[in-house]
Amino acid sequence: MKIAIGSDHGGVDMKDIVVVYLKELGHTVMDAGCFTKDSVDYPDFAEKVCTSVQEEECELGILVCGTGIGMSIAANRHRFIRAALCHEAYTARMSRQHNNANILCLGGRVLGIEIALDIVGTWVETPFEGGRHQRRIEMFS
Ligand code: RB5
Repeated sequence: MKIAIGSDHGGVDMKDIVVVYLKELGHTVMDAGCFTKDSVDYPDFAEKVCTSVQEEECELGILVCGTGIGMSIAANRHRFIRAALCHEAYTARMSRQHNNANILCLGGRVLGIEIALDIVGTWVETPFEGGRHQRRIEMFS
């Protein structure tokens, strides 16, 4: 699967680890930055990742900031983007099965790395169930 990923300075350390993990799982990763701990503005990176998903360059996207909150708010302003801020694997799985979330948001200053990778692995491997959930998504698309 082709997956876009981006972060601000609050999420860059976690983002870099997630990139390595996704590649180990066999995915192709489009890393939109940032690449240093210099202060940047998270909406810029949300925009890059959301655009790549909207334009179907990538199937899914992952965004990491300090809390994940700013990224999730910014991402959900984009049409056809369904961004899920997750703190454990259960909501990550449900966000794919029921919400067809196409962006995963993580808090780099909130989550331990083992939990973050558990969330990421679960999220990328869980398919959308469709059916009644598709109808509900279409109600706000
Ligand atoms: C940056 O300091 C921080 O505000 C950002 O990473 C994020 O947590 C915003 O929601």
